[in-house]
Amino acid sequence: MSDPHFIELSDISYSFSAETPPLLHDINFTIGKEKIGLIGPNGSGKTTLFHIIMGLLRPSGGKIFFKGEEISTQKQFKPLRREVGFLFQSSDDQLFSPTVLEDVAFGPLNLGFSIDEARQISLDTLKDLGLEGFENRITHKLSGGEKKLVALATILAMKPRLLLLDEPTNNLDLEILSRLTDILNTLELPFVIISHDWDFLAETTSSLYTIDHGHLHKCGEDHIHEHRHVHPYGDRPHQHKD
Ligand SMILES: Nc1ncnc2c1ncn2[C@@H]1O[C@H](COP(=O)(O)OP(=O)(O)OP(=O)(O)O)[C@@H](O)[C@H]1O
Ligand SMILES: [Mg+2]
Repeated sequence: MSDPHFIELSDISYSFSAETPPLLHDINFTIGKEKIGLIGPNGSGKTTLFHIIMGLLRPSGGKIFFKGEEISTQKQFKPLRREVGFLFQSSDDQLFSPTVLEDVAFGPLNLGFSIDEARQISLDTLKDLGLEGFENRITHKLSGGEKKLVALATILAMKPRLLLLDEPTNNLDLEILSRLTDILNTLELPFVIISHDWDFLAETTSSLYTIDHGHLHKCGEDHIHEHRHVHPYGDRPHQHKD
């Protein structure tokens, strides 16, 4: 039998409440091997999908499998959270310690590394991200782009098996954007990146998905959808090129 998928979503649907229409419908998605880009309009449910994968929101329907085992309770999500590095859309939701070193060392300390080991892992990770010398900086005084890289350091220090990055390029100037692109291209890790930046996704990922009216589609594959016609032959069988 072939290896199970690292993470598999099967027919996942999500509504915020019984009164609101579903935000996500019948999402089938396997992740853990490729470098995937996820693009879609504001409010289409991209961040919500990441929260469902991490077990921070409970789906209204469908199943989530981690290494072939169905998971649904908070206890069952723990091993997934240990192996999946989740970069929040807002770095301020991720960073909470007074200094950069304390923030980055928090994960390794939690994993049981000694203080010296956690310090070394943190310094090495900061160095890999071009943040040498940042260890004693006050986290909340960093610039938006610096916070984003420190937030990435906090998850890379945990040696994850998969990254979920929610809009990692927000607030980045061209120099840091290019550094992040290089880092992601050097990492031998699968990831899913939510971004509105086509160029960045083209440079860092090998397949692209969109969320459209609650449905997930793989780009480059045909899919049937509803649309209105603004051309005169709309009532006859026809094809669109894009
Ligand atoms: N608790 C809630 N109750 C009802 N609706 C909510 C709740 N939380 C979020 N939403 C709505 O769900 C929709 C999807 O939000 P989500 O953050 O997943 O979108 P997104 O695709 O990540 O958007 P963006 O590109 O702006 O980050 C939004 O319209 C948002 O306002
Ligand atoms: Mg979002």
